[in-house]
Amino acid sequence: MKQTEHARRRKRLMQMMGKASVAILPAAPVAMRNRDVEYPYRQDSDFQYLTGFPEPESVAVLIPGRPHGEYVLFVRERDPLMETWHGRRAGLEGAKADYDADDAFPIGDIDDILPGLLERCERVYYAMGEHLDFDAKITAWVNRLKAKARAGVHTPSEFVALDHLLHDMRLFKGRSEIAAMRRAAKVSCEAHVRAMQCCRPGLMEYEIEAEFLGHFKRHHCEPAYNSIVGGGENACILHYTENDAELRDGDLLLIDAGAEYDCYAADITRTFPVNGRFSREQAALYQVVLDAQTAAIKKVRPGNHWNAPHQAAVKVLTRGLVELGLLKGSHASLIKEEAYRHFYMHRTGHWLGMDVHDVGDYKVGDAWRELEPGMVLTIEPGLYIAPGARIGKRPVAKKWQGMGIRIEDDVLVTRDGCEVLTRGVPKEIDEIEALMARDNAK
Ligand code: GLY
Ligand code: MN
Ligand code: MN
Repeated sequence: MKQTEHARRRKRLMQMMGKASVAILPAAPVAMRNRDVEYPYRQDSDFQYLTGFPEPESVAVLIPGRPHGEYVLFVRERDPLMETWHGRRAGLEGAKADYDADDAFPIGDIDDILPGLLERCERVYYAMGEHLDFDAKITAWVNRLKAKARAGVHTPSEFVALDHLLHDMRLFKGRSEIAAMRRAAKVSCEAHVRAMQCCRPGLMEYEIEAEFLGHFKRHHCEPAYNSIVGGGENACILHYTENDAELRDGDLLLIDAGAEYDCYAADITRTFPVNGRFSREQAALYQVVLDAQTAAIKKVRPGNHWNAPHQAAVKVLTRGLVELGLLKGSHASLIKEEAYRHFYMHRTGHWLGMDVHDVGDYKVGDAWRELEPGMVLTIEPGLYIAPGARIGKRPVAKKWQGMGIRIEDDVLVTRDGCEVLTRGVPKEIDEIEALMARDNAK
């Protein structure tokens, strides 16, 4: 992402904040995996969105109208010894030269400097409750000012949730964000195609997962979330991530895996037969989910509300479940009772962006939000029939048990409808079978 893009975002945010206000954003802390071992560092999405600054132990402060500069970064100082051990740092000069900060200070001096930046402000924009250690610091800085009130020091009178402004900005993706999401989508699609090509009975789920991890890394991506590679009944566990079972002939395989490129995510699920051929029952259930997804995607267009795709999916799933004998009753009353929830227990999607489950409100007041161009969402209906599934006392016919199916694509709302960003990986039954047959024949 170009620095000019971050500058544009800061400017827009500051215009909305108005004068006499300050926004404070801490970088993500380093997370420890176990003794002396860190998780790979991932910057906080809000911080990244506004700064592009990739280092921990940093704090960004935006002060609209400040004569000495509106954008202040607190960062780690250059330190040859620390950099020899732990890696390069931008330092104060780099923060200004490479990341466009108007002013940069050592992070170790923040206790002395930040209260002074708050002094002339009425409102502090801050995401209270997101970073507990940092919440305590903010409170301490404001209390320091309050203690000096009798000496005539001004203290801010309002804390305002930064999320309302910032997350609404993040919900609408600009051109460079969509470009990053297209790239994440492309790399993810390629990995799903590879998985279909190399899958065969006897492989382990983690061997398929390795295809994704290797492909992501080769294309300068990270996994956007822990990949789900679930064969057979493992696909009925919605957040299955053990990925350590053998893939069996005759089972389906559900893979939910997506890449993150430049901090933007893709989120794709495909379900296909381990041996390359759908059985009659598998094909029947799969087609219901696919029809539900098609109906839901058709509802993604400006003016429709957020819940319209979910409602469309639920209708098709319910009709399909009745036709297959899995639900009994009238269509209207089954929908009203939410009978589909026996087999479809999640919603049809979520916003997608820097976070997989991205920020942005789903409702405005009591009403579902209207879809608008630039929003990106997933459409991911599914059906999950776990072993031993029953509806009340009635067991589900054995032939359906142990199947978990989800089909998930990433969809951009455009001016006149939508664009499926993840169309590069097949989902029609005949396309999947053809791809797998071609490769197995090699
Ligand atoms: N991969 C997370 C989700 O589909 O929501
Ligand atoms: Mn998803
Ligand atoms: Mn997913």
